[in-house]
Amino acid sequence: MNKPKITVIGSMNIDMVTETDIMPNQGETIFGSVFSSFTGGKGANQAVACARLGAHVTMVGCVGEDSFGKQLMEALEKESIDTKNVKTVPHITTGVASITVCDNDNRIIVIPGANHCLLPDDVFSLKEIIAGSDIVLLQQEIPFITVEASIKLANELGVSVILNPAPAVKLPKELLEMIHIITPNEYELAILLGLDDKQERTYEQLIELYPHRIVMTGGSKGAFYKTNDGQIRQQPGRKVEAVDTTGAGDTFNGALAVRLSEGSTLEEAVRFAVSASALSVTKLGAQSGMPLRTEVERFMEIQP
Ligand code: RIB
Repeated sequence: MNKPKITVIGSMNIDMVTETDIMPNQGETIFGSVFSSFTGGKGANQAVACARLGAHVTMVGCVGEDSFGKQLMEALEKESIDTKNVKTVPHITTGVASITVCDNDNRIIVIPGANHCLLPDDVFSLKEIIAGSDIVLLQQEIPFITVEASIKLANELGVSVILNPAPAVKLPKELLEMIHIITPNEYELAILLGLDDKQERTYEQLIELYPHRIVMTGGSKGAFYKTNDGQIRQQPGRKVEAVDTTGAGDTFNGALAVRLSEGSTLEEAVRFAVSASALSVTKLGAQSGMPLRTEVERFMEIQP
């Protein structure tokens, strides 16, 4: 089988990860336990996930002219990801994410740096690459105008788009209609729907409110999605020993893109993506735990 071709247009960050047993209160200073740094960024993470799961990946993004930028490029090249369309921008720092991991959960602040230099023209110049892709995979850590331009261009060229709407913003209806599948978590979906009330809703009720094609990630609960005939299904989560959930959503998106590019049904692709993302949380760091195709397949045999 030919490798599916996926173009990832998105962010590249260095993740500065602090592990702590408790979260400090406002104005409080505490001791954390361990500090580590990793290559990350939702775009780069999704590119790595796709490559490990068997896709030919083209990364489109920006880094600064610094050691972090070089580190990110090397990490992608090690995974045989095509980095010819990653721009090195002078006089601006590579994107950085400050991540606090506590109780197997994370809080992330991103300083976009060079990521905000990825502009629509950078995407327009890649018409041929986009036209030759099975799927274009996008997130929202790059300028919104670039996300918008990428969706429109892919649409014009008849290429499917998966949008991971993180960090979430409310999106125009005409743009949503051009997206093949959107993959928010429950917080992001509430923002997409413009819900600012604190009313508690079940996953099913939330997803019911969304009019377009959607796969919603639910952490340890797995994923929820609408079938073509509008039915809501849950693919339950897998039992694993979670160490760090950073990058689980990125693994999910990468896995979904790979399987859909290969022609799998949405149901098969979601089942595969839930297993891949479960495996990814067993190691510290977004990319460190991202599994190889064979590892996911073996895991699915053990936990069918
Ligand atoms: O999704 C996880 C990623 O979000 C991290 O790698 C961090 O860089 C932020 O972009």
